[in-house]
Amino acid sequence: MVAARITVNGKAAPISPATPHTTVLDFLRERGLTGSKEGCAEGECGACSVLVARPGVNKPTDWVAVNACLLPVAALDGQEIITSEGLATAGEPGTPPTLHPVQEEMAVRGGSQCGYCTPGFICSMAAEYYRPDRCAHADSAGSTEAGSADSGSADSEHGPNGFDLHSLSGNLCRCTGYRPIRDAAFAVGTPAEDDQLAQRREQSPPAPVATEYAQDGSVFLRPSTLAGALQLLRERPDAVVVAGSTDLGVEVNIRSRRANCVVAIDRLPELRELRVESDVIEIGAAQTLTEIERRLDGSVPLLAELLPQFASRLIRNSATLGGNLGTGSPIGDSPPVLLALEASLVLADADGEREVPLADYFTGYRQSVRRPGELIRAVRIPLPLSPVVAFHKIAKRRFDDISSVAVAFALDVEDGIVRKARIGLGGVAATPIRALAAEAALEGKPWAAETVEAAAQVLQAQGTPMNDHRASAGYRSAMLGQSLLKLHAETTEAVSS
Ligand code: FES
Ligand code: FES
Repeated sequence: MVAARITVNGKAAPISPATPHTTVLDFLRERGLTGSKEGCAEGECGACSVLVARPGVNKPTDWVAVNACLLPVAALDGQEIITSEGLATAGEPGTPPTLHPVQEEMAVRGGSQCGYCTPGFICSMAAEYYRPDRCAHADSAGSTEAGSADSGSADSEHGPNGFDLHSLSGNLCRCTGYRPIRDAAFAVGTPAEDDQLAQRREQSPPAPVATEYAQDGSVFLRPSTLAGALQLLRERPDAVVVAGSTDLGVEVNIRSRRANCVVAIDRLPELRELRVESDVIEIGAAQTLTEIERRLDGSVPLLAELLPQFASRLIRNSATLGGNLGTGSPIGDSPPVLLALEASLVLADADGEREVPLADYFTGYRQSVRRPGELIRAVRIPLPLSPVVAFHKIAKRRFDDISSVAVAFALDVEDGIVRKARIGLGGVAATPIRALAAEAALEGKPWAAETVEAAAQVLQAQGTPMNDHRASAGYRSAMLGQSLLKLHAETTEAVSS
């Protein structure tokens, strides 16, 4: 097997002597590339961001920004990354480098003070700069003046140059204030014809490499086929499965967890499909949330409501549905939505596959019916979809936060009668749950204030919420009832307007 290596800013470097748990951030900084910083080490501040060449949605390659603090460098064996240092163009000896257009805009518009967060912002901004489907909404792209960013924009979250501010939702700045950063973002133009990173998008990204990287008594393994991965999991019951590493990275950094054997499954082709058929949508468990968001492009409205609220763009660029379900957290954001959509999971092991309704999947706190050696291969969402939907995430911040409570609704309302109601809840029990009693209180009844108020009473008594640092049990219960009242008010306004 070829020695593990990674291409950084166009130069190949051996991964050794890093351990299987060494993060990309530590790897870079130990080699003198200190632009990327450690702020939180748990995926919340974005100071560590770098760009990775990944399979593209609209072009062969996308430059995708990820949290380098969460990703083991061994996961990038054979891959290609760009850091903030690699965005500038080297000048003649003795002359300073030419800033990248994104760096230039941040500099001239005062987007940096202490500079700690700046390289991370630059990488997230560069990923958006190179997003192939970023479209200018006005002919002023590239010439927007500071302070006028709102005037020509499609909405408050998109610049006239098509820049989506959500691309920066995982980057925190403690001293500049966000307006100059937004001004810089809304001022960037489009890549020049001879821009090498723009040209790089036209070629395929590096293929996944089968990896066996052992150091210090631990091993990082990347099998190349699903069959190989399942056999490996049978032989190594101690293996920890990793996809985007947004969970494992936190365990490694904050809880000093060191697994003897880590098995990466995020590039397995069998887990990377997304099929839309007449009666079902099947989403491969290792599709990233960003890929799902872009590939489905709003065709599953409940997912389209969920995904922008799921952590941050940086996290969604790595996190997968399989990972969110596999960790079994009672406050994961995807289970309430998938419960309302009546999704099922395709579980695979070395003996074959089985399909389990998500409603039967969770058995206790972070417990499920998934057996040792089994992987989530795909998530299936049956069609047709119910038309009245909403996802309400109650958290302290609108973005880049963890739910206190999450509620997802999917209702069929015909001739003013609720024919079917599916309600998924997170944060009110040891597992995500369906609100069966509230569903029953709605079904067959008029979609009218009287029914809804009665069902809201039932809904707020569902689950066994607890008091913790995020919210009290009473608040969580109250939010359940309020969610249903809000949905009814919104749909009634929509009908009457
Ligand atoms: Fe904060 Fe990586 S250091 S997200
Ligand atoms: Fe200081 Fe952002 S410029 S943290």
